[in-house]
Amino acid sequence: MYLGIDLGTSAVKIVLVDDSQRVVASRSRSLTVSSKHPGHSEQDPAQWIEATFATLDALKTDHARELAAVAGIGLSGQMHGATLLDAGLMPLRPCILWNDGRSAAECTELERRWPALRATTGNKAMPGFTAPKLLWVARHEPEIFAATRLVLQPKAYLRLVLTGEAIEDVSDASGSLWLDVARRDWSDEGLAATALSRQQMPRLVEGCAPAARLRSEMAQRWGMTGRPMIAGGAGDNPAGAVGIGAINPGAAFISLGTSGALLVPTDTIAANPERVVHTFCHAVPDRWIQAGAILSAASCLAWIARLLETSEADLLAPLGSRPSAPSPVSFLPYLSGERTPHDDPDVRGMLDGLSHATDRDAIVQGVLEGVAFALADCRDVLAETGLVIAEADVIGGGSRSRFWLSVLANVLNVPMHRFADGETGAAFGAARLGRLAVTGEAIEAVCTAPRRVETFAPDRALAKAYAERLSQWRRLYRPRR
Ligand code: XUL
Repeated sequence: MYLGIDLGTSAVKIVLVDDSQRVVASRSRSLTVSSKHPGHSEQDPAQWIEATFATLDALKTDHARELAAVAGIGLSGQMHGATLLDAGLMPLRPCILWNDGRSAAECTELERRWPALRATTGNKAMPGFTAPKLLWVARHEPEIFAATRLVLQPKAYLRLVLTGEAIEDVSDASGSLWLDVARRDWSDEGLAATALSRQQMPRLVEGCAPAARLRSEMAQRWGMTGRPMIAGGAGDNPAGAVGIGAINPGAAFISLGTSGALLVPTDTIAANPERVVHTFCHAVPDRWIQAGAILSAASCLAWIARLLETSEADLLAPLGSRPSAPSPVSFLPYLSGERTPHDDPDVRGMLDGLSHATDRDAIVQGVLEGVAFALADCRDVLAETGLVIAEADVIGGGSRSRFWLSVLANVLNVPMHRFADGETGAAFGAARLGRLAVTGEAIEAVCTAPRRVETFAPDRALAKAYAERLSQWRRLYRPRR
């Protein structure tokens, strides 16, 4: 039996997976994000621990026998966050999250201090990544920076609590901007550019490798017969890839979670930092992931549901299963700024084309289309590196909407596929990594592709209409700086 724990932004999700890779139980507990200033996004690490413990306690009440048999655990999670710990390994401040835009000035400074940044990390310095956040803290909260003994990304902090050891996997570490992605090791030069050293970083392992065992008092709390091994695990997107067997070059997929991404596994680095393609080590050795990442995807639907004081399901139901034409309403999904392709933390969202005739459905459709157009931007910058997408699987909460998948198929003009339970993607992938760390089985044997339950093919006329709308939509973006 294996556990996958996904420390997301909006929830902690945990799945229990049996030896034949069947999800036996799936539980989640929501998390809140705080934003004390415009563009800031923080979370209290204590929330992650409480939510994880409460979810595991709940699993124990109705799945005690299965929990007792857990041999391996995999962690996945929101990437890039900066959790700063003092000498007693206590958080010094709330974690600064992946969608926090405060450190734009520090990105310029970091690239000035470390000219080899793009060549070494495969990425452009952007406020979402961890390293510029540390420069911001050094400048604005010098006493906290001086007290920082350890810098961890969210799931590494969770692992520290679960095992007592500071360990990170190379996929998540890629999102720090301190990793030499070709060597899959910390860059001492990069760390020095932020006045840090290896001593303040966790030890690195591959995603499918064993990291450390669960503390015995916790194994006892959840009634486990042994002390399960915790694998390296992965950032949420690489973990999602493992969950759907996207480990080999070319297996493109889209993630429609709080954030969104179009991702392609590769066996060589195909970086394009100038156009804001992200480069991450994959969760399996000798593989990388190239991605276009957008900061708001399913969170745009959540936003409009909040605004209209209704549920997402209620908004989606009247739209049916496919669009007949593009909505007259255009939406820029830049609610937290944008990464690919703009790298613009200050830009904000927009609704365009409103009239007296505009109804709720047109706005909701426009919102879903806006996210699809942003993913078309991702497709184009990936294509510049030679990564041309012929079809894509879709995972994450948004993949439950047949309408949205049909929009994506027509906007990207390639078939989209979905699985039965896409919403458990990253946690399921994490459970697979937990299994690999224990059994040492062949990666291909475990990381198989689940059965696709549905394919959405583009329609010629509709794809043409969307191509025209995409050009108009692109003209709406105006840089804020
Ligand atoms: C990827 C990214 C997001 C976060 C939160 O670069 O920022 O996917 O990991 O989901």
